[in-house]
Amino acid sequence: MDAPLPQRHDLDGRTILVTGANAGIGYWCAERLAVRGARVLLGCRSPERAQTAVDAITAQAPGAALRVIPVDLGSLDSIRGAAADVDERIDAVICNAGVKSAEKKARTHDGLDLMIGTNFLGHFALLAQIAPLLADDARVVAVGSLAHRFAHIEPDGLSASWRGSSLRQYGRSKAALMAFAFELDRRWSDTARSALCAHPGYAVDQLTASRPGLVEVPRVVRGLAALSRPFVQGKDDGAAPLIHAATAPDARGGDYWGPGGMLEFRGAPARVRASDEVRSPTTGAALWAAAEHLTGVPFPT
Ligand SMILES: NC(=O)c1ccc[n+]([C@@H]2O[C@H](COP(=O)([O-])OP(=O)(O)OC[C@H]3O[C@@H](n4cnc5c(N)ncnc54)[C@H](OP(=O)(O)O)[C@@H]3O)[C@@H](O)[C@H]2O)c1
Repeated sequence: MDAPLPQRHDLDGRTILVTGANAGIGYWCAERLAVRGARVLLGCRSPERAQTAVDAITAQAPGAALRVIPVDLGSLDSIRGAAADVDERIDAVICNAGVKSAEKKARTHDGLDLMIGTNFLGHFALLAQIAPLLADDARVVAVGSLAHRFAHIEPDGLSASWRGSSLRQYGRSKAALMAFAFELDRRWSDTARSALCAHPGYAVDQLTASRPGLVEVPRVVRGLAALSRPFVQGKDDGAAPLIHAATAPDARGGDYWGPGGMLEFRGAPARVRASDEVRSPTTGAALWAAAEHLTGVPFPT
């Protein structure tokens, strides 16, 4: 077992909710935030996988303030229960949990398209119901993707059967989440709250630091993957733009952060360009109305 990481305390007193914190990029957000002193709420659907993450974080940050919030973002009932369960001020939310591929017929528990329903509508419903708990200067970070640039959002047919590839539908779901965040930021313009987007670039497990029960890549696979390091990065580094968006003083509402290197696949956090469509107030407003209709959850602003 590695020795614990050097602890910093620059986020002492901050409480940050990370969805999908039991694996991948969400795990690394949670670990790095905890090492910096933040209290981290881990929004996870599996208690067992959440506990593995808690154990791994605790090994790196002994005494870390962690709380598991059981939530399945593909179930409006589960989201309602999770929101009722949270009873503390939240300073930032990283909307990270995501389904990256699916069959055309795959649906959430509520019959919504699986990727739109989980990646966008699940976060919409969760944020709407925890909004009263958000700090006056809270930040919401929507985790987007390079794939949003190849997607066209159709607010009127958001959850309808889709055409084209699973990757294109994934791009739509990410574009929808991003457009929602930019719309949220516009609706919060008279407040100190802010919403912004971030993406992790091209982040793979094979280049990620080891963590027991979470990232266990055979040595030979890791060795082969090292050849791709000039082009892509590990999920530990992929977490950096998300953490920057959630915590850095120079990150602002309406920003979009991603890796600053070649093609935005890897590198240190930098401001990057989002498509005109996800920044469109017309699209944002239509999407907002569609999300309230499909989830049955009004979003108080
Ligand atoms: N990796 C990349 O290169 C890349 C690039 C662009 C954007 N992204 C985005 O970054 C985020 C994290 O990606 P990743 O590569 O770390 O993915 P990952 O390793 O597959 O992890 C996804 C996380 O989301 C959780 N999740 C999925 N469905 C859920 C649900 N219904 N309720 C609650 N949690 C759920 C998973 O929990 P379970 O363990 O329970 O399944 C897991 O914790 C995603 O939003 C993805 O779209 C990733």
